[in-house]
Amino acid sequence: MSPSSPLPRAVTARAHANIALVKYWGKRDAARNLPAAGSLSLTLDALTTVTHVAFDPALPADTMSLDGRPAGAGELGRTSAWLDLVRARAGIATRARVDSTNHFPTASGLASSASGYAALALAATRAAGLTLTARELSILARQGSGSAARSIFGGLVRLHAGTPTDRGADARSSDDDEAYAVALPSPLTSTLRMVIAIVGGGVPKTIGSRDAMDHCAETSPFYAAWIAAVERDLPAAEAAIAAGDVAALGALVEANALAMHAAAIASRPAIIYWQPATLACLATVRALRGAGRAAWGTMDAGPHVKVLTTAADADAVAAAMRATAGVTEVMISAAGGPAVVVEDAAAC
Ligand code: PMV
Repeated sequence: MSPSSPLPRAVTARAHANIALVKYWGKRDAARNLPAAGSLSLTLDALTTVTHVAFDPALPADTMSLDGRPAGAGELGRTSAWLDLVRARAGIATRARVDSTNHFPTASGLASSASGYAALALAATRAAGLTLTARELSILARQGSGSAARSIFGGLVRLHAGTPTDRGADARSSDDDEAYAVALPSPLTSTLRMVIAIVGGGVPKTIGSRDAMDHCAETSPFYAAWIAAVERDLPAAEAAIAAGDVAALGALVEANALAMHAAAIASRPAIIYWQPATLACLATVRALRGAGRAAWGTMDAGPHVKVLTTAADADAVAAAMRATAGVTEVMISAAGGPAVVVEDAAAC
């Protein structure tokens, strides 16, 4: 990290969302947003956030727009508190204007916090005159949203939790510095595809991942078993990736997602993200596998089903998902690249 340029600067950065193949679901420290276990994901080319940040001495407070509309008080407050981390690091007090646009399918209800905080981390640090390493950026993005740490990188990505059982190769003393993401370069990346099946428009938003994982950790009798499952699934997924074994990876991906949802469903009161069409999608995925296709389903904090598949089978998988009752939109995504700066200029 080093101050690279005087303020004010205006920087635009782009990042892609990612879908976890081994899920992050539970924190060991809510204040510092430290995960209870590691996770592993695929960054997706088709889901993009572009964020513009300008620190402006004339601003009395931070401002933020999302998709062209002023952000709500909650979102602005959360972003402003996160921007304080950047200001502290840069040694400035200047307020910022943040404009963020999601290039996601219309009304998909897909979460954008991963690409959002990754793009924001890159744009805001550059605009504040800082140049951080990718690892430092992933730590900062994680402080905004756990999954965002992974969107700093392209392709397959591993997040180290920083716990004694899940540290990266070069362990340091502070566990805050230990919870960071790294890219997992693999020849498999170019053959993988994610088919995203959007389920049921117009359904009221359910509980967000942040509150849901805390509630699950506090009340689910299966939470400890879930964390233990992640600790087994991570090395197994890494081994499958190293071996180029899509079928082994896919089987783990689907089992891991079902274990996360089993823990969530067992919370008291229950957290159920699925709709009938979610199960219909999973039945389609199973039928595709029965017919010899590469297809394994995964779900996050919503009803949508993302199907891990290969370039060879992606069209057939997408067609089958499109024909499944309750699916409103289907798209195919290849792996996406890392977060990048698209514009960096002295602000006028
Ligand atoms: O990064 P968050 O706080 O939005 O949590 C992400 C949670 C899941 O999407 C369900 C799993 C994951 O690892 O992305």
